[in-house]
Amino acid sequence: MRLDYLTIFPDYLAPLRLSLPGKAIESGLLELHVHDLREWTHDRHRTVDDTPYGGGAGMVMKPEPFGEAFDALAIDGATVIVTTPSGEPFTQALARELSTRERLVFLLGRYEGIDQRVLDHAATRAEVREISLGDYVLNGGEVAALAITEAVVRLLPGFMGNAASLVEESHSESSGRLLEYPVYTKPATWRGLEVPDVLLSGNHARIEAWRQEQSVARTAQRRPDLLHPSRAMGEWDIVPAV
Ligand code: ADE
Repeated sequence: MRLDYLTIFPDYLAPLRLSLPGKAIESGLLELHVHDLREWTHDRHRTVDDTPYGGGAGMVMKPEPFGEAFDALAIDGATVIVTTPSGEPFTQALARELSTRERLVFLLGRYEGIDQRVLDHAATRAEVREISLGDYVLNGGEVAALAITEAVVRLLPGFMGNAASLVEESHSESSGRLLEYPVYTKPATWRGLEVPDVLLSGNHARIEAWRQEQSVARTAQRRPDLLHPSRAMGEWDIVPAV
């Protein structure tokens, strides 16, 4: 998989090299390119933003640098990801879908957003997905891109050492989309706190039943929306609250 990032803060994406095992890059499983959007500006101030047509607060990212970047990077046929709080919610299912793509190109906005024509133009050349990390506002798309990248890349065949841990965790399809049960390790007693007896029993059927029960209880308490049959995982309530 090839990953491109268009940002005005390339340093923000340096942690990618830490979170993605060097092995994956060395072996060619992953190819990573971080680009400074200002490379495609031509004025003395290397301007990437301007005031919004129609007025209003804040600045909007200009289309021209993106257009030149698209041409230089030949984005045609790629999947372009725009991180924005007004995008579709990022879920494990979406991570899995994106993990099937050959190339992801992230457009990382700052300020009030990116000129809409950038997205409209990109859509004539590539698949465009506007994605939100959640119902809150970050200063820009970089942190969202880091999170999306990590969630996607760990699903690539051959990326994770232990495939079983991929299967069991929270939000994976095979766990019935329940949250993960609590886990414990040695010592059996720590600061007066005991590991639940059942986990020391060696009775695998009982352990399995206990874990299932814990998962359901946790999900009911923290994410009742996941248990509601009419709402898919991670989808937000579009019915107005009464
Ligand atoms: N950029 C700013 N806020 C964001 C969010 N919640 N998700 C994705 N990108 C963002």
